[in-house]
Amino acid sequence: MGNVSILVGAQWGDEGKGKWIDILARDTDIVARFQGGNNAGHTLYVNGQKVVLHQIPSGIFQPGKISALCAGVVVNPSQLIMEIKKVADHVVLTPERLWLSARAHVITPWHIHLDSKRESEAANPIGTTKRGIGPTYAEKANRTGIRLGDYVNEGKRKEWYELLSQNPAFVEHRKTHAADWREFEESAAQLKAFVVDAEHLVRKEIKAGKRALLEGAQGALLDINHGTYPYVTSSETAAGGAFASLGFSPRNVDKIYGVAKAYVTRVGSGAFPTELNDSVGQHLATLGKEFGATTGRPRRCGWLDAVALRYSGAISGYDGLILNKMDILTGLDEIKVCVAYDHPVHGRIEEFPWDHDILQECKPIYKSFKGWTETLPAGGKISDLPAAARAYVDGVEEIIGYPVSMVGTGVNRQDALFR
Ligand code: GDP
Ligand code: IMO
Ligand code: MG
Repeated sequence: MGNVSILVGAQWGDEGKGKWIDILARDTDIVARFQGGNNAGHTLYVNGQKVVLHQIPSGIFQPGKISALCAGVVVNPSQLIMEIKKVADHVVLTPERLWLSARAHVITPWHIHLDSKRESEAANPIGTTKRGIGPTYAEKANRTGIRLGDYVNEGKRKEWYELLSQNPAFVEHRKTHAADWREFEESAAQLKAFVVDAEHLVRKEIKAGKRALLEGAQGALLDINHGTYPYVTSSETAAGGAFASLGFSPRNVDKIYGVAKAYVTRVGSGAFPTELNDSVGQHLATLGKEFGATTGRPRRCGWLDAVALRYSGAISGYDGLILNKMDILTGLDEIKVCVAYDHPVHGRIEEFPWDHDILQECKPIYKSFKGWTETLPAGGKISDLPAAARAYVDGVEEIIGYPVSMVGTGVNRQDALFR
């Protein structure tokens, strides 16, 4: 049995990864983010107080844990410093407790500018978070990016400025946004002490028998390879992204968890076969408080999509699904789950299509479940659920073809049911 677990979003993000990392971190020594940047917004409640984390891993509120950002993450330096300050009331993050990979690429004011510019000029905007994520990963792939280890070195930073200065627009941006670039400069010295060979350190701990929990951001359907391209993010959000980012043997893996809402939400553009624009959609949005934790945008809501969950399970190999926010379904007379799609040309489709245009044209085929009115238990076992809710969980398991191992029934740590 390995000593590394991976937790990823199983849908289009915002499934409740933050809350579940906080719960699972109790039994681990290190929590490491493996991709994405401050496009993520992971919400947790500490002593009844809401905290949203964008870059810092969500295990910091369990005492004594080490947090790490691995090579596949992109880092916004000034925002990270702000976040370290923001959590200081609860936990002081020293370089002994927060390891930032020298290999992680840096989001600069230039990348944020490029992201916004592209979104405002595009005929079909992706609806990005405008945090500079895409341009930073593009620069990384183009081998003209700047890594944290180089960023905190003044000489290397200057070399990077010179490299990019071949582009007059970059030179102009540095002039016209001088305050942003000054903040960017000043942040380097503040982060320097945290920047280490994080992958080496984490691997060493794993080898010594310590337990690591690798935290995904976004969700499987936003994966750059497997998601609803081009309406995706720019990193590998499925479980495989963890191996690429930390660089370790898959043989070390103990458990892989996927987190899904008991319905679906999506922020930004792109196909969404089970989207609801009716009173049920309203119910989910209102009770679920479905507003983006990063941008505040309203999230689109719809019924659970089992075609997407089978696909998501296939690409990440979940040992178990965490079916979260089940409490939000309470009070609905009827609950639907999409079991297949109906396409005007291809007929019944059981496999999630690679082609976004086809997905866009798919209509959901639903199986119906009876609703419940009882308040769901906070804590305990899945078997403690009222009969109709239990029947729903059993039905979901059958349709997706892998187990539901945990259920979420509220925003707090204790609102978690286990097998
Ligand atoms: P993440 O990005 O996957 O970490 O998820 P977000 O934090 O963006 O969004 C999840 C939202 O649902 C947050 O507001 C959480 O506080 C909330 N939440 C998490 N689990 C539950 C649950 O089981 N029930 C309810 N009602 N809310 C939950
Ligand atoms: P967490 O980790 C939900 C979406 C954006 C947009 C697309 C590309 O909180 O689940 P990007 O800024 O990454 O280039 O935007 O991806 N997106 C998310 N949606 N949750 C997230 O993170 C997201 N991060 C990015 O809305 O559609
Ligand atoms: Mg989120």
